[in-house]
Amino acid sequence: MTKYSAKQWFVKERSGDNINVEETFELVTKELSTDDLKEGDLFLKAHFFSNDPTQRIWVNKDSVKERLYRAPIEKGDLMEAYGIYEVIESRRTGYENGDFVLARAFWADYCTLTPIDLTIDPGATLTKIMGDPTDFLTLGITGITAYFGLLTVGAATSKDSTVVVSVAAGATGSVVCQIAKNVLGIKNVVGIAGSDAKCELLKKSCGCDYALNYRSPTFKQDFEEATKDDIDVYFDNVGGEILDMALLRMKEYGRIVSCGAISMYDDMKGGKASAGISREAWSQVYCHKVRIEGFIVIQFADQLPKALADLVPWLMEGKIHLIKEIWDARMEDVPQGMLKLFKGENTGKLITKIIHS
Ligand SMILES: NC(=O)c1ccc[n+]([C@@H]2O[C@H](COP(=O)([O-])OP(=O)(O)OC[C@H]3O[C@@H](n4cnc5c(N)ncnc54)[C@H](OP(=O)(O)O)[C@@H]3O)[C@@H](O)[C@H]2O)c1
Repeated sequence: MTKYSAKQWFVKERSGDNINVEETFELVTKELSTDDLKEGDLFLKAHFFSNDPTQRIWVNKDSVKERLYRAPIEKGDLMEAYGIYEVIESRRTGYENGDFVLARAFWADYCTLTPIDLTIDPGATLTKIMGDPTDFLTLGITGITAYFGLLTVGAATSKDSTVVVSVAAGATGSVVCQIAKNVLGIKNVVGIAGSDAKCELLKKSCGCDYALNYRSPTFKQDFEEATKDDIDVYFDNVGGEILDMALLRMKEYGRIVSCGAISMYDDMKGGKASAGISREAWSQVYCHKVRIEGFIVIQFADQLPKALADLVPWLMEGKIHLIKEIWDARMEDVPQGMLKLFKGENTGKLITKIIHS
């Protein structure tokens, strides 16, 4: 029998707009014993957490529960997170003590994962090829989102000439830009981000022909210049005003990939972000036969091997680079990762590395 003093974050109160971490989450220390494990359970130690904007939606009380793509996390529940976890003790066939798994588990240094909790199996092959488990999180979550979003949902091909990407210097966006330029050879890749430094990166490392800072006073003119030949595919990570602007520049039969709408996640009631699409912009959908299609990456779970069979060679050949930012955190600091995303403090994939005390 081994006992562990586990630090675990629970949802204290589902939050409204402008999340306050002290009011939303609560750190609880619990004594856990491996004696309590049941058949099928995995006892896990966390090493890295993925920071995903969608976690904000899981705890937002203004999200309409019945319309969410997954069950919300309720008051009193452990806060969930994708992460890289080490199996300390396995009671499940196929898992050995010492295995590293990519799983949707919890903001906890130690936790028990029951059979229904494990949503992604370990990808031993990928870990062996790439060595670094944080690449696993970067490629295995947002990399595949970029892949399926651009190529399957957006149906982008080398025949397209202009692809526009919002939140382009983020985890998903940075991979979308690189696939568009370095794999498909798109003539005009336009990346949109929130700072000059991010725009610099988009030009230098992500193959963007135009990198536009949406905070710049000249953003609207810059956008018009960059999209003067109109847009074949707009990869939308942000919603709001930028979506409106893109709609007004779509080509006939253009495609909009609705991947996310981060400008609205901390503002579900629409105070800061203009969540509504203007009448003029909406009319473009039928006038120009624009296809808008949303997706949730897990819908492509059965096609994951195909995606990795493309993505891993692209990585090896240098066609794509995984841009990530790893910050060291004690368990006490973990919720700050969520805030970093919404303040735009990250470039590429934001990963929390747990410092065990
Ligand atoms: N459909 C799916 O299955 C799926 C899967 C994964 C991700 N997503 C979506 O993809 C989008 C990007 O997610 P990610 O995981 O790749 O994370 P990410 O790009 O790292 O997201 C964080 C970035 O978002 C930008 N941002 C934050 N608040 C903003 C606001 N109010 N307005 C404009 N930009 C804002 C900031 O960049 P700037 O400094 O550039 O503003 C920030 O650095 C999100 O909408 C997410 O929900 C969807």
